[in-house]
Amino acid sequence: MCGIVGYIGKKNATPILMQGLRALEYRGYDSAGLYVAGKGVLKRAGKVDVLAAAIPKEFSGNAGIAHTRWATHGPPTEKNAHPHTDTSRTIWVVHNGIVENYAELREAMIQRGTTFESDTDTEVLAKLIGEEYGMGVVLEDAVTRALKKINGTYALAVMSEREPDKIVAARLGSPLLIGIANDAYFLASDATPILPHTRRVIYLDDGELSILSPNACMVRREFETLSKKIEVLEWDAETAKKQGHEHFMLKEIMEIPEVIKNTLRGRLDFNEGTSVLSGLQNVASRLANIQRIIITGCGSAYYAGLAGKNLIEEFSGVPVEVEIASELRYRRFTGDSKHSILLAVSQSGETADTLEAIRIAKRHGMLTLGIVNVVGSSIARETDAGVYNHAGPEISVASTKGFISQIIVLALIALMLGRQRSLQKAKGRGLARFLSELPEKVSEILGRKDMVAEVAKRYASMQNALCIGRKFQYPVAFEGALKLKEVAYLHAEGYGAGEMKHGPLALIESSVPTIALLPMDSVYEKTRSNVEEIRARGGKVIAVTTEGNEAAARLADDVLFVPTTHEAFLPVLTVIPLQLFTYYIAKERGLPIDKPRNLAKSVTVE
Ligand code: M6R
Repeated sequence: MCGIVGYIGKKNATPILMQGLRALEYRGYDSAGLYVAGKGVLKRAGKVDVLAAAIPKEFSGNAGIAHTRWATHGPPTEKNAHPHTDTSRTIWVVHNGIVENYAELREAMIQRGTTFESDTDTEVLAKLIGEEYGMGVVLEDAVTRALKKINGTYALAVMSEREPDKIVAARLGSPLLIGIANDAYFLASDATPILPHTRRVIYLDDGELSILSPNACMVRREFETLSKKIEVLEWDAETAKKQGHEHFMLKEIMEIPEVIKNTLRGRLDFNEGTSVLSGLQNVASRLANIQRIIITGCGSAYYAGLAGKNLIEEFSGVPVEVEIASELRYRRFTGDSKHSILLAVSQSGETADTLEAIRIAKRHGMLTLGIVNVVGSSIARETDAGVYNHAGPEISVASTKGFISQIIVLALIALMLGRQRSLQKAKGRGLARFLSELPEKVSEILGRKDMVAEVAKRYASMQNALCIGRKFQYPVAFEGALKLKEVAYLHAEGYGAGEMKHGPLALIESSVPTIALLPMDSVYEKTRSNVEEIRARGGKVIAVTTEGNEAAARLADDVLFVPTTHEAFLPVLTVIPLQLFTYYIAKERGLPIDKPRNLAKSVTVE
């Protein structure tokens, strides 16, 4: 989604802003632009490289704002790219979010004689700020007054040619943070552009406005000055780079063993056979009495939620519903809110629908918990309590290590809820041991990645595929199909293996392979029968099974093995060959693996 960068200090802002835009590319965008004090504005449709090529040598100054735009209102053209300006071309605005009442505001302005250059809601906002500024107030007051007139969400940065030593930034519903270095201030939608310069940051909260100058940073709400806490980011710039891998997706898959260790670190109590989640300590007694959990999220986070339902119900017996956030937010909330919790899963912590579902659940009096990777993100801050994934920055649009760390956190929560109820200590100890062994088992799978690449080569030209799984493998089937769709651009459907006879079997022919999640678990025989039914109808099968299942080689056309573990934790292992398979197919097809077309990493609009 759109990204904002800002800089004010003693250095040349242009290279800093361009480096920042490059760091934000992973979020997804289709045009880019920047404004540098004293030099003016430059915008281009397409990649940041196109913008970089258009920048003249003398385009330098000590302050500026820049933006990557992911089109919402109007196509990805130069005229729609940010920054946008007011009628007198004095102020420049970059904006993330949506001005919901922009059409009526625009109409009213047109009636007043204003003309517009673009199709965007942001230009309406720029012109509104310009109208207020024209009354002779300082820039921050013009912004405050204009923002009162809009409905919607925003993170924005504004500069004025009349006050070149000032950047005004504001936030409502879209993330924005300020980086603090010795001689400069930075502004960004997330930490990646700031990390090369400083790890000291201030997170703006909804309704707050900041005024940055070369030697001061002030945050206020309305007209009251606030004293904000400076936080120190855990991630460093190096962590966010590719570290020798051709793509972030592969780098992030290869990090999974380390990620699982980090997610588990200090959280398993082997003696008591439980988990210790400090982020949930304050709500532990409430959790002991809850009677229902609603898990919500979008995309892979939703599928992790499905895996979490199986884990929580299996170990604790607490009933769990899993709802896509974009549906949950429009549903009527039913049941006893006091004894229910909403558990929101989100890697970025910024997904708009998930955030809104949290707000609605809160209004219904529910306790809200988050499973979030990005520290300090909106979901992390708006939920009552939560658990961080500690997966490190996930740059590739496709979630891989993020998805796995979400399942690990859900497993830890399941263990804790189980031990608060009837799960016996000995069983808990066994589960804790199984969890702690997962990193080594994942490393074994990754050690065989070239074999997955070989299999992927044979299927690289397929157009359609089915992924099937049962019980604990059911969510993996959906996650595998999602990966194939978004990264390899092939049409893949996830299905419960038992559903094949109820329709999808009609699709089976030699050109439609099925990826069968077939570990030797408690439902192995059932899924094996489904695989035989597919084979009997001429369908090709790629089986993902557990080591030692020699029969799988006779049953399937191709077999990918994973080590054995407790069946409830097998999704952590079986999804990895699917992630690798997708990666290698996309590579064979020459696709933009880390930034698939039309997609964004952080979906901050509904
Ligand atoms: O940041 P979140 O976990 O909230 O993101 C949710 C989805 O947008 C995300 O999982 C998406 O489906 C991924 N691209 C899947 O790989």
